[in-house]
Amino acid sequence: MSERSRALDAAHRAASDFLASLPDRPVWPRASLDDMRDTFGGPLPDAGEDAEAVVTRLATDADPGLVAIPGGRFFGFVIGGTLPAALAADWLVSAWDQNAGSSTMTTAAVALERVAGEWILDLLGLPATASVGFVTGAQMSNYVCLAAARRAVLERLGWDLLRRGAREAPPLTIVVGRHRHGSVDRALRFLGIGIDEITVVETDGEGRMLPDALRATLRTIAPGHAIVCLQAGEVHTGAFDRFAQLIPVAREHGAWVHVDGAFGLWAAASPGLRHLVDGAEGADSWTTDAHKTLNVPYDCGMAIVRDPADSVAMFRAGGDYLMYASHDPWDVGPELSRRARGVPVWAALRSLGRTGVSELIGRLHANAVDMAEGLRRIDGVRVVNDVDYTQVMFRLHEDEATRALGEAILRDGTAALTGAEWDGHAVLRCSMSSWVTDSDDIALTLTAFGRLVSRVRTPGTVGGSGTPR
Ligand SMILES: Cc1ncc(COP(=O)(O)O)c(C=O)c1O
Repeated sequence: MSERSRALDAAHRAASDFLASLPDRPVWPRASLDDMRDTFGGPLPDAGEDAEAVVTRLATDADPGLVAIPGGRFFGFVIGGTLPAALAADWLVSAWDQNAGSSTMTTAAVALERVAGEWILDLLGLPATASVGFVTGAQMSNYVCLAAARRAVLERLGWDLLRRGAREAPPLTIVVGRHRHGSVDRALRFLGIGIDEITVVETDGEGRMLPDALRATLRTIAPGHAIVCLQAGEVHTGAFDRFAQLIPVAREHGAWVHVDGAFGLWAAASPGLRHLVDGAEGADSWTTDAHKTLNVPYDCGMAIVRDPADSVAMFRAGGDYLMYASHDPWDVGPELSRRARGVPVWAALRSLGRTGVSELIGRLHANAVDMAEGLRRIDGVRVVNDVDYTQVMFRLHEDEATRALGEAILRDGTAALTGAEWDGHAVLRCSMSSWVTDSDDIALTLTAFGRLVSRVRTPGTVGGSGTPR
């Protein structure tokens, strides 16, 4: 067998072993970063090593530092696992090694991404003619959409950004909700847009922008000079801005509307949840991820722009060696060379079908509802958000005990979730994003919480047993 075949077989075995270990391994890693640095570090050896030996060592040594994200009890951040077809397709993407920017050269990869983009627009109820740029994640999607927005809005004001730059351009105001995701501010920073150019609109208790407050804010801005950033799925509460009320207000004012729907836009694919995104299709640009709710591996966001001319005008690549066709993927995103990250999306959608996607989104919501109900039954736990979608946010009476509970569950190893602050109080947040999570996972997690809550509320007994369950 060739070295390559032996290395691939070793990777296959190691990957299968890791995935098989997920139900029983502690969710949080057993090794610290320093442990892992010690394991992998040291001076670069002079001599190389056989590829199979490298892969086998890699898999064995990394194991204690792996977090069980693809398992059923990782509820941190907003992440999602990996569907079988998407994982296997991702392996093919690496084996094929296609540079997915060129529609003249990498025809299979570009066709697969184009079809995946069309299916996504259809599922999310967005205009079929919009451009879909496959980017690394929602962070870069927000950047792409807002870059396209700024150029287009300035063009309408008679300013050619690409020729004259931003320094002396007509002033624009970026209007955001108080509970926008931090990646929006970061995207604006990448664009050289400062904090003083952002206006923050008040939100309700769930983090939804208040329509009257938006109206009042826009009255203070010259018509046509605003970009309004709305949100589908607040990262803690899962709340959705009321698009059907807000977008007409922004339109009246000649504003560009961007919707950050990293995980929330997927509500459109479920008949029972579609009402949450009513009106969102009226925006100019949309951010979403496949590596969250669709459960494909990392490195897969989508930047969707209503008028493809707006994304192409901003991102069209140059270079006489590039074998240009019309509509190359590198014209709607910031990269030139990149992997064919849309192929796992095609595979995920093909394996689920429309019904499977709808069932997946419905199940994530049902899991969140079940988790919230179980948490409410634990003495001392208070669920603090409306569980309309996939997020559950809860706390104990004392902030200190809430934080201690967060630490205890990680140490216990049964489940992983992450903490945050909401309304000045510590909260724990539980994000239902994985296709794997089932009722047993929820029951195990609730049992662990029941056990740990009484311990953290008794001073001096914070911590866990160190065993997985
Ligand atoms: C609403 C929202 N926008 C943007 C992001 C950033 O996503 P990514 O990590 O894919 O860049 C997140 C992440 O959770 C999010 O929830």
